[in-house]
Amino acid sequence: MPNDKNNARNKKQPDIKTQNTKKTKGMWSGRFDTSTEEATRAINLSLTIDRRLYQEDIFGSIAYAEELKNSQVLNAKQAKSITEGLQQIQDEIQNGQFPFDESLEDIHMNIEARLTSIIGQDGERLHTGRSRNDQVATDMRLWMRAATKNVEKEITNLQSSLLLKAENTIDWIMPGFTHLQSAQPITFAHHCLAYHEMLQRDRERLLDAVKRNEQSPLGAGALAGSALPIDRNRLAKKLGFIKAMENSIDAVSARDFIIEFIANLAILATHLSRLAEDIILWASTPFNFVKLSHETSTGSSLMPQKQNPDGAELVRAKAAKLYGNLITILCVMKALPLAYAKDMQEDKAAMFDSFDQIILALNALSATINGLKPNRKKLRDALNSGFPEATDLADWLVQKLNMPFRQAHEITGKIVKQAEVCKCSALKELPLAQAQKISPLITQKALDSLTVEQSLARRNALGASAPVRVAEQIKRLKNN
Ligand code: ARG
Repeated sequence: MPNDKNNARNKKQPDIKTQNTKKTKGMWSGRFDTSTEEATRAINLSLTIDRRLYQEDIFGSIAYAEELKNSQVLNAKQAKSITEGLQQIQDEIQNGQFPFDESLEDIHMNIEARLTSIIGQDGERLHTGRSRNDQVATDMRLWMRAATKNVEKEITNLQSSLLLKAENTIDWIMPGFTHLQSAQPITFAHHCLAYHEMLQRDRERLLDAVKRNEQSPLGAGALAGSALPIDRNRLAKKLGFIKAMENSIDAVSARDFIIEFIANLAILATHLSRLAEDIILWASTPFNFVKLSHETSTGSSLMPQKQNPDGAELVRAKAAKLYGNLITILCVMKALPLAYAKDMQEDKAAMFDSFDQIILALNALSATINGLKPNRKKLRDALNSGFPEATDLADWLVQKLNMPFRQAHEITGKIVKQAEVCKCSALKELPLAQAQKISPLITQKALDSLTVEQSLARRNALGASAPVRVAEQIKRLKNN
């Protein structure tokens, strides 16, 4: 199995050798009279990007060599020497000693050429019946599987940070907003757990995409399938897939697994951006609901008092990059005739960038949440304006007087208007006589009951804000 680091940058790599000559020849030079012109070479070059696939490529090639041996296309000695050569290449790349060569276009041809230079002619047998078309599609599926694990791990970390914040703020009451207007009392914990739920669906979406793509393109060849007596299902299982893809043309043409991965990350980025935005608002001077830690905020070069939420702001901006990648891959694929076309080479930059950006964003947000200190008093004080307890008066009229909700809404609206005229900061401050001018049925007891604490405690149906409910949710999530 390739390890799941998903990049070739963990060890220092030597610089890629650039061609001195203006013109180069590819591995496919037999049919060509001339070498490749410089700009054509440059536009074809993908090594700088796809070198990240080296582990998947070697893993796939070792399995392929083994299958060629099992189906008697290669003898045991040839297969062994290919495997050993590929293992040596893996070490060379990991140790930063691999002679990357741009004139060989991509990682696949770099590895194959190096194999032949290490083990001699047997290296030239590896690509028998294989095409870079089925090879790269396989590499990408393997990469996506490992990348998903990494993203999943970072989602879990962020969820743990949110859960911990929630545990410490179960009864920290604050206004919940709709339209960014004070709406109803909620708790800081309940707000945090909303993101926990979104992240859970994000993770399930990613895992679901892996499940749908546990089929191997390898052995599909260029597009028409293999003419060799290989067992594609056996080969697929060797690579950890469930089975081989059923249609060889689909196997080399399909990139919906990449689109799906990038789309799933874009949805995740949307959630991260909303969380970032809430943090930015909460930390803003007028709100002052939370303080960011010094470790996760930045200062101004001019204004000494500033403590800026740059990390959260950049998480918000990263979503834009992920949407850009999604649009790129959709547009690259949308009008391509079957089967493979070189346009598809652009899938990698989009996929790798989405992965890199999302990992950064997840890490930055986890750190921000860990360092964030909600201000209990400010959260509570914010309930003293905007009448977030108004719904409870309407509920009282409905429940105690059996009034139809629309009438209750109308009466409560008038009470709110009157409370504003009287400059009350809460409905219970309105003198009973004034309230009864609007509805003679309203009692002092009803007005007295309109505290935000009671409003919160009353919302105790499944999924609601009442601290008893939130405590249950936390318990459930901790036991998951
Ligand atoms: N570097 C290529 C890619 O990523 C590999 C496949 C090339 N196939 C071809 N028929 N030229 O798409």
